[in-house]
Amino acid sequence: MSVARRGLYRRGVVTPEQLHDRAFSLDPFPIWTQLRHESPIFYDTHDRVYVVSRHPDVIKAFSDSERFTARLYRKTLGAVFGPNLLVWEGQHHVDQRKVVAPLFVPTRLDRYRELVESVIDELLASVDPNGFDLVKDVSSLLPGKVIVRLLGLPPSDDQRFHEWYETMMQGLWNDPVMRQRGREAHSALHKHIDPIVADRRLVPHDDILSRLIAADVEELPSFISLLLTAGGETTDKAIGNMWTNLLAHPMQLDVVRSDSGMLDRAFDETMRHSPSLVYLGREVLVDVDWHGVNIPKGGELRLAVGSANHDETVFERPDVFDIHRTDLHHGLEHRTAAYADGAGHIAFGAGAHFCIGYALARMETVTVARMLLDRFGSLEAVGNLPPLRIVGPSWSTTTLPVRCATA
Ligand code: HEM
Repeated sequence: MSVARRGLYRRGVVTPEQLHDRAFSLDPFPIWTQLRHESPIFYDTHDRVYVVSRHPDVIKAFSDSERFTARLYRKTLGAVFGPNLLVWEGQHHVDQRKVVAPLFVPTRLDRYRELVESVIDELLASVDPNGFDLVKDVSSLLPGKVIVRLLGLPPSDDQRFHEWYETMMQGLWNDPVMRQRGREAHSALHKHIDPIVADRRLVPHDDILSRLIAADVEELPSFISLLLTAGGETTDKAIGNMWTNLLAHPMQLDVVRSDSGMLDRAFDETMRHSPSLVYLGREVLVDVDWHGVNIPKGGELRLAVGSANHDETVFERPDVFDIHRTDLHHGLEHRTAAYADGAGHIAFGAGAHFCIGYALARMETVTVARMLLDRFGSLEAVGNLPPLRIVGPSWSTTTLPVRCATA
């Protein structure tokens, strides 16, 4: 008998307002549990989206391209920087993905390790062991710098790319003024790289920009903006969330300190337990009747990845952060061989649009943790740990004050 039928969730039906209040943004688990049990497809009248909360259903929406499409990102990402991989569909998407995905597959990543380590070294050299902000001083800066260096652009470009990236991210919000600023940031980026692209065409370098040019990737400036936006804030938040979890569980922090091989599991468990993106989107291509709810063609789905990763029919004690858990492989069958490395959670999506930067995000998060532990022995929180909070589709903290535990 389900928990709902046993009466544990008899607190009345969920209301759309509850999905938007502060209490939910700080602790979404009870409401998500209630939705999974009682209203697995829930119409949020506030945002006019159908919230999909169960693990198998979220996977279905990611994987069934006959009925569900990612083209709704045209209204957000597309409106800021134009046509891009995430909104392309069918054969066109497959062809373009074949061009870019191989540059980021796990087998390729060893080539980038040194570069990633040098960026981390640079960042850690400027923090004060007696007190620094792991988010503001490290994680928010790392992913953008890595993309800039991977593209082969000079470090002097770091700052302007960071500003463009932040402005483009804000442009994804449904605010016409911010959207316009986001577009302007993308145009400035486009203008900046045009002459560099022209140079690389004549004299290719050993960098990703030259490879993208050689592969004749479509809409190159948009792809660069996609790399920055899809790979920036998400990885930033993965690093912050993983450290929040480890600092909240000192015994598990001790485990990764004495065996850095366990950092990969800490990453996987963080991305299951507290993924950077808790919501993703899909549009319905045909009328769909799902768990008794009629979703009309054109209806928008909000795929609650955060809820799916806590589905008790898939993960045992789902709300517990446990790097030793033995059920992290669930969902692995939905990954292609290139990304099947042990963890099956769906924080990086599933199906045709599965994240091409998955391995890079893992490498950045695990490497920065290893280097922090090598340099400082261990870290401890300064004051109370700030809570993770849902803002838009993200779940994170904007600050994480820490210090060297032996300082
Ligand atoms: C922890 C960090 C990251 C998370 C949580 C994440 C999450 C995701 C998710 C969920 C999707 C699928 C979206 C959907 O189907 O609606 C996706 C796609 C994508 N991600 Fe990531 N991502 C991360 C890091 C990165 C990085 C570092 C890069 C850059 C190399 C990147 C580039 C992309 C691209 C280009 C796509 C589109 C793929 C396609 O449409 O075929 N991501 N990501």
